[in-house]
Amino acid sequence: MIIGGGIAAYKCLDLIRRLKERSHHVRVVMTKAAQQFVTPLSVGALTNERVFTDLFDLGDEREIGHIRLSRDTDIVVVAPATADLIARMAGGHADDLATAVLLATDKPVLLAPAMNPRMWLNPATRRNVTQLANDGVRIVGPAVGEMAERDEEGVGRLVEVSDLVGAIETALAPELAKHRILTGRHVLVTGGPTHEPIDPVRYIANRSSGKQGYALAAAAARSGARVTLVSGPVSLPEPPGVDVVHVTTAAEMLKAVQAALPADLAIFAAAVADWRIASPRSDKIKKSSAGGAPALELVENPDILKTIAQSGSTRPRLVIGFAAETLDVLAHAKKKLKAKGADWIIANDVSAAAGIMGGDSNAVHLITSDSVESWPQMSKAEVASKIVERAAAQLNANRAAAE
Ligand SMILES: Cc1cc2nc3c(=O)[nH]c(=O)nc-3n(C[C@H](O)[C@H](O)[C@H](O)COP(=O)(O)O)c2cc1C
Repeated sequence: MIIGGGIAAYKCLDLIRRLKERSHHVRVVMTKAAQQFVTPLSVGALTNERVFTDLFDLGDEREIGHIRLSRDTDIVVVAPATADLIARMAGGHADDLATAVLLATDKPVLLAPAMNPRMWLNPATRRNVTQLANDGVRIVGPAVGEMAERDEEGVGRLVEVSDLVGAIETALAPELAKHRILTGRHVLVTGGPTHEPIDPVRYIANRSSGKQGYALAAAAARSGARVTLVSGPVSLPEPPGVDVVHVTTAAEMLKAVQAALPADLAIFAAAVADWRIASPRSDKIKKSSAGGAPALELVENPDILKTIAQSGSTRPRLVIGFAAETLDVLAHAKKKLKAKGADWIIANDVSAAAGIMGGDSNAVHLITSDSVESWPQMSKAEVASKIVERAAAQLNANRAAAE
């Protein structure tokens, strides 16, 4: 993405977040003027990547270079595209990193112009935009409405971020089709915590946010699968194109998972409570005037991963469990793989210091019966895409072997 120096540059922060939520990898070039409106620090914090600003940065040139930067992408999005950037593109300039990337790219280019209506309607801008459209550049917007300047209205606003995401995904559709590696498959995912009631107002819970499970469901849906997500209580938006079944307790989660079978692939990312209260009370437990605390008797919950991994004819062809550990992560995860009968375990360290529970990134190990792979820390969306990619390859290899 190239951010130009317009007042709408701040909207790019939201655009980056929306694209990342949908598991797109975003790398940003900012013009010198753009840095007057938003800082590379904020942009880098959202993309989780370095931000490129300078054509003549020796370090950058050695590492990735403006030519690779222009090719190592599926699309180049310019938002906001300023009148100045549009003019320099139309003239074939390459006097800064943004224009050099635009001139060198062999990928689709999508412009989202944003400027004052007089600038947009100026004959020079009209000529430049026509020229770029004839050159095959896609242009989305600008929209009509109020300007940042007081009492100004007209055509020139950056299109809404959701429309821009739509335009980017439409332009990417042929590329995205290549990623539809799970078409025709049913994928079952669990995510979030479970709540085990003590009485009508109290419950036992854990710190799972559901972000990893939701990212997995979204990645599987983008890969063309029919996806059922069995979700514990979380406060996340439902991923697009996913059937979400909301449950509260571990027992309900098991029932919903069994009802969703058969599936080709099952990924158990929920943090299911190991125990529940033996007899939850139907009335709120009162504080006793004599003092003292009630004794809570716990009983073991059903083991969802084990039940499904050992379910015989209804067992999904690939069963993946998550192991959340705070000590000896790998040793425990290897034990879990065997004990549960799962095909793979994704192990992560959930000690408070790791900041995984509730956070946006994850550092995981993929454990199979004969190998351990440790992946670098990445966003939960990226972890999800990578797991889905690997699972699809495994399912396809199994299918090829069976034929
Ligand atoms: C406060 C302020 C707001 C501006 N907003 C816009 C804008 O919305 N659209 C635009 O085309 N130019 C805008 N400009 C002018 C650009 O910043 C200027 O043309 C600059 O050279 C663009 O550089 P770039 O295209 O390399 O990012 C603005 C300038 C200022 C000072």
